[in-house]
Amino acid sequence: MAELLRETDKRTCYCGELSVNDIGKRVCVMGWVQKQRDLGSLIFIDLRDRTGIVQLAFDENTERSIFDTAFGIRAEFVLCARGVVQRRGSINPNLPTGEIEIIVDELRVLSAAQTPPFEVVEDSRVNAELRLKHRYLDLRRPDMQGRIIARSKISKIARDYYADNGFIDIETPTLCKPTPEGARDYLVPSRVHKGKFYALPQSPQLYKQLLMVSGFDRYFQIARCYRDEDLRADRQPEFTQIDTEMSFVTADDVMNMHEGFLKYLFREYMGKELEGQFIRMPYAEAMNRFGSDKPDIRFGFELTDLSEVVRNCGFKVFAGAVEAGGSVRGINVKGGAKFSRKEIDSLAEFVKSYRAKGLAWLKWAENGDVSSSYAKFLTEEENEAIKTAMAAEAGDLILIVADKNRVVFDSLGALRCECAKRLNLLDPFDFKFLWVTEFPLLEYSEEDGRFYAMHHPFTSPMDEDLQYLDSDPARVRAKAYDIVLNGTELGGGSIRIHDGAIQSKMFEVLGLTEAEAKEKFGYLLDAFQYGVPPHGGLAFGFDRLVTLLLGLEDIRDVIAFPKVQNASELMTKAPSAPDAGALAELGIAVVSEE
Ligand code: AMO
Ligand code: AMP
Repeated sequence: MAELLRETDKRTCYCGELSVNDIGKRVCVMGWVQKQRDLGSLIFIDLRDRTGIVQLAFDENTERSIFDTAFGIRAEFVLCARGVVQRRGSINPNLPTGEIEIIVDELRVLSAAQTPPFEVVEDSRVNAELRLKHRYLDLRRPDMQGRIIARSKISKIARDYYADNGFIDIETPTLCKPTPEGARDYLVPSRVHKGKFYALPQSPQLYKQLLMVSGFDRYFQIARCYRDEDLRADRQPEFTQIDTEMSFVTADDVMNMHEGFLKYLFREYMGKELEGQFIRMPYAEAMNRFGSDKPDIRFGFELTDLSEVVRNCGFKVFAGAVEAGGSVRGINVKGGAKFSRKEIDSLAEFVKSYRAKGLAWLKWAENGDVSSSYAKFLTEEENEAIKTAMAAEAGDLILIVADKNRVVFDSLGALRCECAKRLNLLDPFDFKFLWVTEFPLLEYSEEDGRFYAMHHPFTSPMDEDLQYLDSDPARVRAKAYDIVLNGTELGGGSIRIHDGAIQSKMFEVLGLTEAEAKEKFGYLLDAFQYGVPPHGGLAFGFDRLVTLLLGLEDIRDVIAFPKVQNASELMTKAPSAPDAGALAELGIAVVSEE
C-alpha cells in the first residue's frame, strides 16, 4: 500500500522544528514512523525525519477512515500527515517537540515497511555486520545522521576557510599514472589500451605540484584517495583528504595556514578557541620523549633513557641490550601501582605485539610494598639509581623495555597510551594538537636493502642536511611536518623539491636509475625545466578529522558507506566478479587461486 505524492502535498516544515510557537498552525509533515501506540480510542504516532520527532495524534474526533489507517501503521512506514499543532495533554520532557502534537486530519501512507532487522534508535546495540549490511537503515538512526551531517558542515567550513584564503578548488584526475606513496595501487584496466592500466590516485600529489608549476599559487581540493593497504580503525581503502598546495612558502608558512584552519574550524563548529601556537616538536624529540612520531600529549608517562644507568649492571637483559647498540628505557605510570599482577602480565603480553621480548616492571604500592620482576637481578645501588632516574614514588608502576631502539620506542610508545587508556585518562574532547617536524627524509629497509622516502620522493631535504644526501642519507632530515591530534596523525605535508638536480639526486638515492625515473616521473622532471616556484603543502585525513572532532574512534562511523576489514562492502557485496564478456573486452583472464 503505497500512495503517490500529489501536487498539493507540500511539506510545510520538518518534524523536529515544531514548537509551542506553532500552536494553532496548520502544518504538513513527512517522515518515517518511529512508533505507533494504540490506546483504544486514541492513537499516537511518533513521526521522524532528519531533524527529530513529532507526535501525531488521532482521537475520537478523527475521521473514521483516517483513524483506521493510523491503526494499521507500523514502524518505518513513510507518511504524509496534515493537521493543526496543539499543546499536548502530557508534556514529554525528553523530546524537543515534547510540548506539542499534531492533531491529524489528513493522512497518507506513502510507503509501507517490513519489520526492520534492527530498531532505528539512537545507540542501538546492534552487531556491526548487520548495521553495515543494511546501512541505509543504520543511517536513519539519529546519531548516524548527526555524524554525516556534521561531516557535511565541517566540509563547508573547510571550503570557506581555504576559499577565503585564496585557495582555488581544482579537481584532479582519478584515472592516473601510479603515484607512489608507499601503498599498493588500485588498478583500472584500459579497454582501449589492452594490457594497460590506470591507477586510482593514492593522493593528488603530483597533479597539485604541477598546478603550482602552472601558476595557480594556491590549490585546494576535497579529494578522494585510494590505497590498497591493510585496514584499521583509522584506515579505509578509499578515504578523503582536504588536500592543499601553496607556492612561494616555507614550512612555517604552510603550518601557520593550516593551524589557522584548525582554529577557525573549532571556532565555527564548536564555538571553542584553541589558544596559543601549537607545539612544534622535532621528530627526534617526539621519539625520545614519547616513543612515537604521533605522540598523544594529553598525559605524561614520558620515556626515560636508563641505558647509562644499567650499562654495566649484572642483569644481562639490560646490559646486553645496551652493549648491542640498543637501549633500555622506561616509563613511570603514575597511579599504575593499582594494576594487579594479572594486569601487569597482560601489559607484558601487549608489548609482545610490538616485538618486545619482555617487560621488566617494578610496582611501588601506595602502602610502601615494592614488588618487581627485575630488582632481584640488580644491586641495591642499581635499583636505587633506576628509581631515582624514573622519579619513582609510592603509587607508581615502572615499566622497562630493553631492546633495539626501534622496538623500545614502538613498544613503550604504545604502552604509555595503553596504560593511559586503562587508567581512564583519555578524554576525547580534550583536544591536544602538535606539529611533528624535521622527519628523517629516508627510511632504510633491512629487508630490501635500500632506502625509501619516509613521506614521498618529492619532499625536500633540510638545507643544512643536503650535504649528507650522498655520504650519509640516513642522517638527512626533511622539510616535512605532520599535524597530530591526541595520538592520531591527522595530516601531513612537506616543502617539495623544486630543483630538478636535487630531485634527480633523490631518485638516485632511492635506487631509481635515470631511465626508470624518466619513465615514472618524466613529466614532473620535464615540468621542472620550465620555471617552477618553490612550493609545499599538506593534506588532512578528512575522515580522521571528523572522527576525532566528534569524539569517536572508528572512521567508519563518519563514512556513509564504508568498507570492512577485508576491503569489501557488505551491503552491495563489492568487489564482485565482472561478467565474462567484460573481461574479454578488456583482454583480461583471471588466474585462479589453484
Ligand atoms: P599522507 O600519505 O600522509 O600524505 O596522507 C595525508 C593524510 O591522509 C590520511 N590518511 C588516511 N585516512 C584514512 N584512511 C587511509 N588509508 C589513509 N591514509 C592516509 C591521514 C594522513 O595524515 N600527498 C601527501 C600530502 C602532502 O604531502 O601534501 C599525502 O597523501 O590522516
Ligand atoms: P628472565 O630473565 O627472562 O626471567 O626475565 C626477567 C624479567 O625481565 C622478566 O620480567 C622479563 O619479562 C623481563 N625481560 C625479559 N626480556 C626483556 C626485555 N627485552 N626488556 C625488558 N624486560 C625484559
